[in-house]
Amino acid sequence: MSERRLSDVYADYSRFYDLYVGDRTDDIPLYLEYAASSTTPVLEIGAGTGRLTLPTASAGHQVVAVDISPSMLEILDARLAEQPEVTRRRVRVVHVDMLELDLGETFDFVLVPFFTFNYLLTSEAQNAALDRLSAHLSDSGRLVLDLFVPPTPEIDSVLEPEVRMDANDPATGDRVRLWTAANVDAAARIEHRTQWFEVTGPDGASETTEINIDRRFFLPGELERLAEDHGLRVLELFTGYRGEPPKPDSVQLVYVLGHA
Ligand SMILES: C[S@@+](CC[C@H](N)C(=O)[O-])C[C@H]1O[C@@H](n2cnc3c(N)ncnc32)[C@H](O)[C@@H]1O
Repeated sequence: MSERRLSDVYADYSRFYDLYVGDRTDDIPLYLEYAASSTTPVLEIGAGTGRLTLPTASAGHQVVAVDISPSMLEILDARLAEQPEVTRRRVRVVHVDMLELDLGETFDFVLVPFFTFNYLLTSEAQNAALDRLSAHLSDSGRLVLDLFVPPTPEIDSVLEPEVRMDANDPATGDRVRLWTAANVDAAARIEHRTQWFEVTGPDGASETTEINIDRRFFLPGELERLAEDHGLRVLELFTGYRGEPPKPDSVQLVYVLGHA
C-alpha cells in the first residue's frame, strides 16, 4: 500500500448521504450528454452511492464506478442489487483511491463530479490524481472536473452554524437535522467544514454525529497550470451545468479537460 493513500472521508457521512443530497439531479443531463458521445464505458471517479452512476447506467451506458469509501460503495452495491439485471450488468464497481487507479484501459469520458477533486488537499495528491486521470483518458477523451469555490476565495471568512436540513428518514422514521459551519483559510486555500447530524428516534432519543471535512479550492489559473503539467489543457470552463460563463462570485466551476 502506498504512503500516498488517502483516508475515507465519507466513512461517517455515508449513512446520511442519500437523505441529504440523494435527490440532487441538476448535473445529470450534462454527464449524460458526454456519456452519449463516448465510445467506451464512462469512468466515474468518486461514484459514492450511485447518484450519477445509476441514471447513467439506466440510460444505457457502461460505467466503471470508482470510490475510496467502502461504506459509500456498500450503499451503491445495495442499490444496484435492486436494479434490473440489464442495468446492473452495465456497472463495474472498483474500490480504489483515485491516486492508485490503474485499470489498464482508457476512456472517452472521465468525470470527477460533485467536488470530489476538492478532497485532494495537497499538491502531491492533486498531481498524483491528474497523472492517473490523464493516463486513463483516451486521446480525444474529455475529463470533467466539477469543483467547489467559496463565495470569496481570496478572503478569510466564517460561516456560523446554520440549519441545512430537517428531514424524516423514510428508512428509519428518524428525524435528522443537519447544521453546517465553515471557515475559509484563504492563504491555505482550504475550507474547513463541520457538519452535525442530529438523529432523533421515534422514542425521542437523540444522538449527534460530528463530521469534519476539509476541501481545497482553486484560484483562477491554478487548475489550468496543474493540468498542463500532466499534458492536459482546459477546453471549456463554465459554472452551473448548462455552460454559463463563470462569474467572479461563482461558487462552483466545471472544467472540461482534454489532452494537450
Ligand atoms: C461528494 S461525494 C460524490 C458522490 C456521487 N458521485 C455524487 O455525485 O453524489 C464524493 C465521493 O468521492 C469519494 N472520494 C473522495 N476521495 C476519493 C479518492 N481519493 N478516490 C476515490 N474516491 C474518492 C468519496 O468517498 C465520496 O463517495
